[in-house]
Amino acid sequence: MPEAPLDADALRFVDIEKYFGLVCALKKINLRIRKNEVVGLIGDNGAGKSTLVKILTGVFPPTSGELYVGGKRIDLKTHSVPKAHKAGIETVYQDRSLGDKQVLWRNFFVGREMLLPFGFINVKKEKAIAREIMMTTIGFRGEGITVDSRVSELSGGERQGVAIGRAMHFHANVIILDEPTVALSLKEVRKVLNFVHKIKENGHAGIYISHDLQDVYEVSDRFVVIDRGEIVADMEKKEISLKALGEFLLEYSHGLKDKKEL
Ligand SMILES: Nc1ncnc2c1ncn2[C@@H]1O[C@H](COP(=O)(O)OP(=O)(O)OP(=O)(O)O)[C@@H](O)[C@H]1O
Ligand SMILES: [Mg+2]
Repeated sequence: MPEAPLDADALRFVDIEKYFGLVCALKKINLRIRKNEVVGLIGDNGAGKSTLVKILTGVFPPTSGELYVGGKRIDLKTHSVPKAHKAGIETVYQDRSLGDKQVLWRNFFVGREMLLPFGFINVKKEKAIAREIMMTTIGFRGEGITVDSRVSELSGGERQGVAIGRAMHFHANVIILDEPTVALSLKEVRKVLNFVHKIKENGHAGIYISHDLQDVYEVSDRFVVIDRGEIVADMEKKEISLKALGEFLLEYSHGLKDKKEL
């Protein structure tokens, strides 16, 4: 089968395997994510979702396999968290993404401050860019929040919005959301989902991981089901309804249960 050119993909895993000692957490994972596409990664506890994300974000290397980001091969022997940032891979976690006591605009530039010739931070420029990200990229409209607000004044959903906006502004390739709505109220979950829609509108790729199937369904273009370290299904949203996806997963887990009991 002829393969599309590598640079057509935002992200590509080729035969990625991960062993923890003798335990195989990922078996020959082959996965491509297009630009402008959000993929919902679905699977039970322990399926291997976070392990896949950690390989991508440079937390640990795979045992074998290849990884391409924006068409470029990543050297997995030297891959690291800072290198993943440089390659345009950004992760949004619940609550851990922002410094609580800081003012908002500073949060956009942690680790990537814009400096004036004598080493002072270019406050004016950073604030202007932060304002631009808030208004344009994430569409914050008034509501009493400005670039001078403290992160602690923001709701959980708004914090996720800022983290997503920051990721969109600085990192073009892939934004990973691993359970970004855990412990949020329904209203806040709605805000996060609206921000995730913006990832795609702005031409970025995303991986969305959540145990809430309805949320995954809403924000994703494609669903990849992972079970005990293997991809067992890969479906386009246009091919399957939410109800059918739920039934598929239920039947699938029942099938597995039956097999285990044999
Ligand atoms: N650092 C580690 N050392 C040893 N085993 C690990 C490590 N990290 C993950 N595992 C194992 O790898 C498998 C996959 O775990 P992973 O965290 O990727 O699952 P997950 O799909 O993210 O699950 P959840 O939905 O519960 O977050 C599990 O069996 C887990 O115990
Ligand atoms: Mg996990």
